[in-house]
Amino acid sequence: MKTSSQILAIAFCLAAFPLWAANPAWLEGRTDDRYEITVYRSASCGCCKGWISHLKDHNFDVKDITVDDVNKYKLQYGVPGEAASCHTAHVNGVTIEGHVPAQDIKRLLVEKGDIRLLAAPGMPSGSPGMDMPGAAKNDFHVYSVDKDNRVDIFHSYSNY
Ligand code: CU
Ligand code: CU
Repeated sequence: MKTSSQILAIAFCLAAFPLWAANPAWLEGRTDDRYEITVYRSASCGCCKGWISHLKDHNFDVKDITVDDVNKYKLQYGVPGEAASCHTAHVNGVTIEGHVPAQDIKRLLVEKGDIRLLAAPGMPSGSPGMDMPGAAKNDFHVYSVDKDNRVDIFHSYSNY
């Protein structure tokens, strides 16, 4: 009989070593364009690793940096508190906060507008890296923030 602490340990292992097959929706629209992206995350973050493997699936070259204090990077890159998530990334002068689908990052890098930040606030269940088996596929928005700090919805996800 499993004790509850053993069950917790198993749950933690699953979170720490994401080996699940991603939702195929997150593999759509892959391109061969390669960008170097730097990701700042805490060492224990399993869903961060899930998001990093999603980026690699989309041909990003990932510099995976584990840090003691991710908030330092959120401040440095001007991530508003209400946009905060687990990891902060930087690519071609643009900041990416949280579980933003790679498709959106690629679109932004091709469009090259005046957007300085894309954010998927919190940890939306079902988003790339948060799509472990059985996870709810919750609706979520990817927000953009431009250089004048105007906030907009960049992409809405529902029924994915
Ligand atoms: Cu996360
Ligand atoms: Cu993360």
